[in-house]
Amino acid sequence: MLDRASNQPELPPEIARRRTFAIISHPDAGKTTLTEKFLLYGGAIQMAGQVRAKGEARRTRSDFMQMEKDRGISVSASAMSFDFGKYRFNLVDTPGHSDFSEDTYRTLTAVDAAVMVIDGAKGVESQTQKLFEVCRLRDLPILTFCNKMDRESRDTFEIIDEIQENLAIDVTPASWPIGVGRDFLGCYDLLRDRLELMDRADRNKVAESIQINGLDDPKLAEHVPAELLSKFLEEVEMAKELLPPLDHQALLDGTLTPIWFGSAINSFGVQELMQGIAEYGPVPQPQPAEPRQIAPDEKKVAGFVFKVQANMDPKHRDRVAFVRMASGHFKRGMKLTHVRSKKPMAISNPVLFLASDRELAEEAWAGDIIGIPNHGQLRIGDTLTEGEGLRATGIPSFAPELLQTCRAGDPLKSKHLEKALMQFAEEGAAKVFKPAFGSGFIVGVVGALQFEVLASRIELEYGLPVRFEASQFTSARWVTGSKEAVDAFVAANKQHISHDNDGDVVYLTRLQWDIDRVERDYPDITLSSTKEMM
Ligand code: G4P
Repeated sequence: MLDRASNQPELPPEIARRRTFAIISHPDAGKTTLTEKFLLYGGAIQMAGQVRAKGEARRTRSDFMQMEKDRGISVSASAMSFDFGKYRFNLVDTPGHSDFSEDTYRTLTAVDAAVMVIDGAKGVESQTQKLFEVCRLRDLPILTFCNKMDRESRDTFEIIDEIQENLAIDVTPASWPIGVGRDFLGCYDLLRDRLELMDRADRNKVAESIQINGLDDPKLAEHVPAELLSKFLEEVEMAKELLPPLDHQALLDGTLTPIWFGSAINSFGVQELMQGIAEYGPVPQPQPAEPRQIAPDEKKVAGFVFKVQANMDPKHRDRVAFVRMASGHFKRGMKLTHVRSKKPMAISNPVLFLASDRELAEEAWAGDIIGIPNHGQLRIGDTLTEGEGLRATGIPSFAPELLQTCRAGDPLKSKHLEKALMQFAEEGAAKVFKPAFGSGFIVGVVGALQFEVLASRIELEYGLPVRFEASQFTSARWVTGSKEAVDAFVAANKQHISHDNDGDVVYLTRLQWDIDRVERDYPDITLSSTKEMM
């Protein structure tokens, strides 16, 4: 169990100022717009519109493929670093496509907190709920942004109730909206007693902020029309009675989320949210590892790979491994030990992703994300250290929910296909199983869209047309047990056996009944739907 630290003041200042987080939301809630405003206030981009191009590109599959073609964009958007006041924010992008994938899960293993964006008119939607459950597995602290308050939105209490009930988390308002839809005037910042008024005329302008001396300050009436003011005061009074106050420890424990109301497109409420991330968001946290967890303030450098992006340049089969720094002060050129192979690696060209630019990372601290170009040595789940045999844990691989057989359009090209599929398997884009009997490969994914994406990528990056066809199997389970038990099981169940890209034994079936039978008949065998990446 991870020992979640509170914001220890004794951390070195360079580490203590880092905030590493991801944004979770349902498509269309405003993640791209919010990201763009973050970067704008972080001074990372000069103009609104630069991230939007990416948001739009994602909408349709063909555009998504276009974006994937232009891998430069998607890579620099995978992790973005920018400063906000004295803080360094590292924003890790959860994959854009709406299909839920393992990639999303792994991204969330690399962050210390998540910002949950919901649409004020729609509340908690399905994808948000799914992503939230993943955050919950890791007790990630969550900060909530209720977006699109410039439009007709739901009643504030209704939104808060829905979050509390659907997600089983306490909610505390950090701001309170005044008026709805056309009458939306702005918010009262409950943490700092300020009235923030939205400027509809200029979307990039920072809201007018008026210092107020508490809710009975007559100054409020100068800015808020009487009927809105009385409703607002009544609501805030009720909120204070019914909702919990902001308890920092509960936030860090992931049991309470503060909510800010705003409108990303109007740049409204965004700075308050950023201020909230800075003040209340967690510092870089200890990372789970075997045989011991890694503390951020350890002198020695350690980091782990949570994402690999391959074929950035189809001519050279290069890859970038995204590494979350877990401890120490990394400097460019350092020699680190690649724990899985026990070999030293000189990290000479690490990159840091500063919004639209990639830059050589001269240094990095615990909490930062760096990209390490390599030729395939670095795989998801790998740990880099200054020599100690640590292994980052908690980066699982899930049994795929959809299986299909993949064949090369040209049967003579099946060796090429194997290479391409293995590459995608290592990148974590799919599971690839080679059946013990018969030809072809069985490819497993979590969302149906991924088959199409894979087919297009194999054609684009390897010049290899492929067909995906229905497979006789629908479920995959990893088989573990003593060597004798596994060998005996494999010998007796050949029709169902395959090997994944790491050579591990996998049981394929189409019936839950089969799985139950194995569990009954082979007490020495465990079938499991997840496996730790290592
Ligand atoms: P996503 O990344 O979560 O999918 O959402 P994105 O930011 O792309 O926003 C989805 C749509 O919602 C966009 O409209 C965007 O302009 C709009 N939007 C974002 N924030 C706000 C807000 O605060 N208020 C209002 N009213 N709309 C907002 P679109 O029509 O799909 O694109 P566009 O024509 O605006 O570019």
